[in-house]
Amino acid sequence: MRELDRRGRPLQDLRISVTDRCNFRCAYCTPRHGRELQLLPHADLLTFEEMARLARVFVTLGVQKVRLTGGEPLVRPSVENLVALLADIPGLGDIAMTTNGALLTPRKAKLLREAGLHRVTISLDALDEDLFSRINGVGFPACKVLEAVEAAATAGLTPIKINMVVKRGLNDDAILDMAGFFRKSDHVLRFIEYMDAGNINGWRPEDVVPAAEILARISEVWPLEPLKPTRFGEVATRYGYRDGQGEIGVVASVTQPFCRTCTRARLSPEGQLFTCLFGHEGTDLRALLRDGRSDAEIGAAILDTWHARSDHYSELRTDGAQPSGAAKVEMFHIGG
Ligand code: GTP
Ligand code: 5AD
Ligand code: SF4
Ligand code: SF4
Repeated sequence: MRELDRRGRPLQDLRISVTDRCNFRCAYCTPRHGRELQLLPHADLLTFEEMARLARVFVTLGVQKVRLTGGEPLVRPSVENLVALLADIPGLGDIAMTTNGALLTPRKAKLLREAGLHRVTISLDALDEDLFSRINGVGFPACKVLEAVEAAATAGLTPIKINMVVKRGLNDDAILDMAGFFRKSDHVLRFIEYMDAGNINGWRPEDVVPAAEILARISEVWPLEPLKPTRFGEVATRYGYRDGQGEIGVVASVTQPFCRTCTRARLSPEGQLFTCLFGHEGTDLRALLRDGRSDAEIGAAILDTWHARSDHYSELRTDGAQPSGAAKVEMFHIGG
């Protein structure tokens, strides 16, 4: 079954933000901006059972892939119990997680794998310890993130992807260092254009390093060639090293928006359904869950939202037509 939105895009992926809390304060996400972050009280969060019930309904509507995000998903205690509930859903082919790796010990990686997690994507913005410490805002060492990558590989949470958000003047000098380090490894490094997500990161267009520039800088040293997408709606554009030493990806949502193939629904930790990363408000699915509605009724509410969807924020940004001045959902709330 293909449920299409108003721009003909099928509902294929669900990103579940399991918490708005995070043990990092990344410069491009939650910089210390003089005020405390507004975080949800615990009682507002969906339980794992509620998240899994919604995921099951989403799968009946066409979703094939679920990604757990946050905040930092591993700060939610025993998140592997949620993974186990998801792994029980027939028809769900891909269960992945995007994490900063700080809590991904060998033990946790094994628990997640045993519960049914297929793969992880680990964020790492630099290898230089001083720089990485400054970027994550809490002095967390890059070498510990590399240990998490190893733990994930040993546990079989593969293929592993590494996310590097590139911000000009902050870590663009680390592009070659990172490319050189992950070349020849089995892990796929992705360079992500810094986005104007949320309202507190102080984004400016001049801080964006365009994917074309990133690719040119790498190609000068290690020539690249384009690779085919692995599936419809993939956010990263893939490139292979011409010498066969692995592949990289670029996520060019600022300079080459991919709204046209955007197949993603997003669930916030308190059960709001967002149809765009840059949305302002969601559809309250928690109210339906806690009001005793049936799966069919919840499914109908999800479909109403999807069928009405016409989001294409990044295309509008490129055209210079910013949608509205209303506050956007924060990245640490909706999970990227
Ligand atoms: P896979 O392709 O399944 O490996 O995952 P992914 O690349 O979709 O997920 P990941 O969480 O690693 O996201 C990579 C980057 O793309 C992050 O910076 C996300 O915020 C960004 N991203 C993911 N989906 C969208 C989207 O729909 N719109 C925009 N603008 N950015 C997105
Ligand atoms: N622009 C681009 N990517 C971002 N991420 C967080 N904030 C931003 C931003 N402003 C990334 C994280 C993580 C993924 C979910 O999104 O580093 O890898
Ligand atoms: Fe960094 Fe992700 Fe935490 Fe934001 S949610 S501060 S990007 S680790
Ligand atoms: Fe999808 Fe919104 Fe991102 Fe466009 S900006 S790709 S509609 S989430």
